[in-house]
Amino acid sequence: MELKITCIPGDGIGPEIVTEAKKVLNSVAAKYGHTILTKDILMGGASIDVHGIPLTDEAIADAKAADAVLMGSIGGNTTTSPWYKLSPEKRPESGLLKIRKALNLFANLRPAVLYDELADACPLKKETSEAGFDMMIMRELTGGLYFGERKTVTENGKRVATDTLTYSEDEIRRIAVKGFDIARKRRHKVTSVDKANVLDSSRLWRNVVEEVAKDYSDVTLEHMLVDNCAMQLVKDPGQFDVILTENMFGDILSDEASMVTGSIGMLASASLNDTKFGLYEPSHGSAPDIAGQDIANPIATILSAAMMLRYSFDLDKEADAIEAAVKQVLKENYRTVDIMPQDSAKASQMKKVGCREMGSLIAERI
Ligand code: IPM
Ligand code: MG
Repeated sequence: MELKITCIPGDGIGPEIVTEAKKVLNSVAAKYGHTILTKDILMGGASIDVHGIPLTDEAIADAKAADAVLMGSIGGNTTTSPWYKLSPEKRPESGLLKIRKALNLFANLRPAVLYDELADACPLKKETSEAGFDMMIMRELTGGLYFGERKTVTENGKRVATDTLTYSEDEIRRIAVKGFDIARKRRHKVTSVDKANVLDSSRLWRNVVEEVAKDYSDVTLEHMLVDNCAMQLVKDPGQFDVILTENMFGDILSDEASMVTGSIGMLASASLNDTKFGLYEPSHGSAPDIAGQDIANPIATILSAAMMLRYSFDLDKEADAIEAAVKQVLKENYRTVDIMPQDSAKASQMKKVGCREMGSLIAERI
């Protein structure tokens, strides 16, 4: 099979981790007889430096022309980088928002899994981490506060800023359908998260999710208020299978969920439209403080490449091979610095490796 992949190395550690993901993809291609054609495009700060804007129309066209997009990370230090002296629509992040909208990537899947080998890194109570957890956060990605009208005006000499939160029933329905479909492939439970005790948009969200649930009698639906969900993620994360939520709540809850795994360097994500096309990226950011030092953890990007094979190309066997290779290197005690055990006795049993070596170890185990 021919896999046409557009890559966005991006900023910070992005280029290093994307290089390792490509290494692993090439190893998969060699083993399973596929051809991988990649093309790099600029986005974020890297694009600002060359073109003055975070995403050009040509780059969008290159992304659209591929079967899938693999991204590293974008953005820099928001207090020291000159990119953040630009007006908001010219900053790195607006490139990401623009590509999400341009490619209609409305469904953002963010798995948060506690790996057995890394259970020590979980900051939760021992009995909670021992029970384990494996959830999928389904975040709506092209609506809500992120894309509503916004303005800052001066009224009676005082500045007033407004952001608007709008959802149509169609926008809610299509993400809910994806959420229930995914729950069917997992443990058949959807927790829909909203703020229906306050917001109209949440009340509509709840109604539409209820309507969609009627077509999925094999899936259990529960509703949860977002503040309670934030608490439950720390108290009892094992209760969650699929968390279905709107854009802003999903942004916040997915960071929280990744943190409770204790290993954000391990977490992948996928942003999908209503075809097989998707953009795949690690859940973590660009970590500009450690860029270029060969110490970043490439595993989240490598696992994002596995999600890409699974969701955009239906190559389940190949995706399984990547996931198994990752588990294998962990079992063999290879660790990048971010997933080293805190305990020094345990740490001394580990083999500390850099970004490149970790990529090579995984590629060799495909
Ligand atoms: C994320 C990020 C982005 C978001 C930022 C960089 C715009 O936090 O992907 O979660 O808020 O969606
Ligand atoms: Mg975020």
